[in-house]
Amino acid sequence: MAKAVLGVIGGSGVYDLPGMEDVREEHIASPWGEPSDALRFGRIGQTQIVFLPRHGRGHKVSPSDINYRANIDAMKRAGVTDIVSLSACGSFREALHPGLFVLVDQFVDRTHKRESSFFGKGCVAHVSMAHPVGSALQARLAAAAEAEGIAHVKNGTYVCMEGPQFSSYAESVTYKNLGYDVIGMTNMPEAKLAREAEITYATVAMVTDYDCWHDGHDAVDVAAVVKVLRANAENAARLVARMARDFPTEREPCPNGSHNALEVAIITAPEA
Ligand code: ADE
Repeated sequence: MAKAVLGVIGGSGVYDLPGMEDVREEHIASPWGEPSDALRFGRIGQTQIVFLPRHGRGHKVSPSDINYRANIDAMKRAGVTDIVSLSACGSFREALHPGLFVLVDQFVDRTHKRESSFFGKGCVAHVSMAHPVGSALQARLAAAAEAEGIAHVKNGTYVCMEGPQFSSYAESVTYKNLGYDVIGMTNMPEAKLAREAEITYATVAMVTDYDCWHDGHDAVDVAAVVKVLRANAENAARLVARMARDFPTEREPCPNGSHNALEVAIITAPEA
């Protein structure tokens, strides 16, 4: 197995990763286009970290305009084996309150104008997305959250909408009735592309609001989201730092097949 390198993708409000040492920045070129920002390389303890703010510093790239392929490709080129996605989300359940971290294990993709595969045009691959989150990586996140006393729950379904507008009331109630737990705008196609790149992926969905289904709460507005997210960002940095402390130096096989996703994918080889 390869040397383990922990990638961290920061969402809204997470534009930096305090706690990294020996930090250097590098613009990694990708044939897929421009990543959202320079990658920041560093370490926490013995763990090599590569950090990328998915909206770019200053939140300049909207969810639909993020070049997800370039971001994941740049991480792959940087040697990243595991990605922790720190992502703001709205909640469809009373119990999933703002400030809570939901370590989701499933995604529903409702996006419709994003490039979502590295394959196509001559070489087709169908990787499994049955279990999109690496359960061992998720378990490490849960253990770190436990150790840091950060309120969290394991498992749940994240529905990814196109945005950038938030949901209508009818959409919000529909998603809730369908049994989805949280909603965000970015984890798809990110998780799909990570799987195609054989990078293990796990999300920390940081609840910022109750979307607009909840009669007892005002409909979500951007200012409210950013305010709660600032508080969440501090916990996220502690969580990652804690996890990094005990992270293995060698890549571990992923119980959900992230490390060899292409070996067992259905692939049409390009014609000779
Ligand atoms: N990110 C944070 N809150 C959200 C919501 N309610 N809907 C979509 N994305 C979000």
